[in-house]
Amino acid sequence: MPSKSPTEEMPKGEKLYEGKAKVLFRGEDAGTIVQYFKDDATAFNAQKKGTITGKGIINNKVTELVMINLARIGIPTHFIKRLNDREQLVREVEIVPLEVIVRNVVAGTMAKRLGIEEGRRLARPIIEFSLKDDDLGDPLIAEEHVLSLELADDEELSEIFDMTHQINDFLRGFFASVGIELIDFKLEYGRLYDEDEMGYCLILADEFSPDNCRLWDIETGKKLDKDRFRRDLGGEVEAYEEVARRLGIAL
Ligand code: TYD
Repeated sequence: MPSKSPTEEMPKGEKLYEGKAKVLFRGEDAGTIVQYFKDDATAFNAQKKGTITGKGIINNKVTELVMINLARIGIPTHFIKRLNDREQLVREVEIVPLEVIVRNVVAGTMAKRLGIEEGRRLARPIIEFSLKDDDLGDPLIAEEHVLSLELADDEELSEIFDMTHQINDFLRGFFASVGIELIDFKLEYGRLYDEDEMGYCLILADEFSPDNCRLWDIETGKKLDKDRFRRDLGGEVEAYEEVARRLGIAL
């Protein structure tokens, strides 16, 4: 077995959770978590598995850049600081069990579900919700399900809509400035509790990387995201590196 390169070594702290693309460890300070970004890639609810070499490093740094820029426009996020190539320190939150999906252009499951060709620009962005449940394949749910099943309350839902629209407006321009069209993406939010646990605020959590969004080159339409892996298009390592290069991220 080839030995792992030093940058792939995992932290020694208590492992809290291992997901498909990240591992979460308890941070040194109370209320903090270390997110470790792996090179593992999965698609179709983990039915397809593989590795995209260097992906974890790129996703860690793209997430850092996006979170820092979102904080600058007033979006509260869980990001504290990047620790090294593959790890970042974040605030511990209670994740709202929703995948918040934003679509600017029709692609992926929306194209399939509604029989619309990929690439159609929407008259206005769509915000969709999926229930965060891998065993069920993250089923699409309506706003009514969110409220009736008490996954989030009215106030949280309106904050989620407001923040998500602001994030989309900002990120469309952010990527357009480097010649990339932001087609769709997925966000997760979390509840950050006060120390006395009497109250909490809603903040952006998880990650923002080419794993969770679709990025197309504005000029050529070339896919620069995980669809290269999902659809066996090849060149996934180069695509992730291209996104990093355009964003000015040193690898
Ligand atoms: P979608 O088209 O609904 O699903 P798929 O990626 O399986 O075709 O996805 C819309 C966007 O949201 C896409 O950029 C991928 C992202 N996404 C995730 O990152 N995780 C998820 O669990 C889901 C449902 C979507």
